[in-house]
Amino acid sequence: MKNILVTGGAGFIGSNFIFYMLKQHPEDRIICLDKLTYAGNLQTLALIMNNYNFKFIKADIADRQAVDEIFAVEKPDIVVNFAAESHVDRSIENPGIFLQTNVMGTQVLLDACHKYGIERYHQVSTDEVYGDLPLDRSDLFFTEQTPLHTSSPYSASKAAADLLCNAYFRTYGLPITISRCSNNYGPYQFPEKLIPLMIVNALADKPLPVYGEGLNVRDWLYVEDHCRAIDLILENGEVGQVYNIGGHNEMRNIDIVKLILQALGKPESLITFVTDRKGHDMRYAIDPTFIHEKLGWLPETKFADGIQKTIEWYLDNKSWWQEILSGEYQKYCERMYGNR
Ligand code: NAD
Ligand code: DAU
Repeated sequence: MKNILVTGGAGFIGSNFIFYMLKQHPEDRIICLDKLTYAGNLQTLALIMNNYNFKFIKADIADRQAVDEIFAVEKPDIVVNFAAESHVDRSIENPGIFLQTNVMGTQVLLDACHKYGIERYHQVSTDEVYGDLPLDRSDLFFTEQTPLHTSSPYSASKAAADLLCNAYFRTYGLPITISRCSNNYGPYQFPEKLIPLMIVNALADKPLPVYGEGLNVRDWLYVEDHCRAIDLILENGEVGQVYNIGGHNEMRNIDIVKLILQALGKPESLITFVTDRKGHDMRYAIDPTFIHEKLGWLPETKFADGIQKTIEWYLDNKSWWQEILSGEYQKYCERMYGNR
């Protein structure tokens, strides 16, 4: 039986990971630490809130005293750090909070692991730390050896956190692992991100804001496949090692948007091309050979099935996202898309 501290577990991937782990490892105990920012939602965890092997603690990973107390009481064997400011557009608007949470927060967690001792600290990172690839070089992929070369304040903050993890491994011998994953999609994703945003806008017959010409390419992975990869890294991963996780599933934004419209029976006239994101990365593409060869991981969900399941989830769980669409998030949409 292990005590697993999952930070950011009220967000998209963290919550999916908790559900996955409770199912796969019912003998373990999960402690979820989350600040409940705009992206954290306790509703998501409602079904497991009273489970005997689950505990929720509202706290900020950058709050040293709070984190220290949690480590002293809960004595985690494993920490999986999902907590982050995660949206690129918001990082362009306000980089400060990204540095605070993603860099300083990671340092606070690493310090606590060093002080109290830990079996494993796993940092959930992103393929965005590698920068982007050109559209006309389909032979190029991100490997674990690709140099870090960031574009946005978000990706810069994630890269800084990765470097800190490596430094704590090298300097203090802290048993860390890092995973760098491509774009996830699936249930419980906040509707500011491409796929859920397009689904909820299409359902409301609202314009679908496509940046630039919609030609940017992302490598989409169903969230459960990401969770399984992290579980494998925790079980059999080598400390000090980076693992790239990706689905070999590159798609242009415009094609995803058209596919969603088609699935919902909505017209393509809803597509609205808007001013491009500043510093917009063109293409992400992960080479997952290393994790496949070392840990036997391969994505299991085909995009056609995953997107269908995702659309059905948003259709079946309207109250989850309709609550988000009211209030503060409305103001964000006006700021972000109002004059584009
Ligand atoms: P998300 O924005 O949906 O969730 C982030 C969660 O972290 C929220 O619950 C939020 O309340 C919490 N949080 C934010 N600041 C915090 C703080 N200071 N202290 C404690 N909790 C805090 O993000 P996501 O999409 O689920 O991403 C999770 C992690 O995975 C992030 O580290 C992100 O960089 C990484 N990642 C995401 C993707 C993707 O496609 N979404 C891909 C690769 C890597
Ligand atoms: O690659 C992993 C990363 O994927 C994660 O590290 C990030 O946390 C996650 O947010 C995601 O970043 P992206 O910037 O790729 O995701 P996003 O959903 O914001 O955008 C996907 C693509 O769609 C991107 O090319 C921008 C475009 N886009 C996005 C929005 C929100 C639009 O065209 N219109 C939009 O309104």
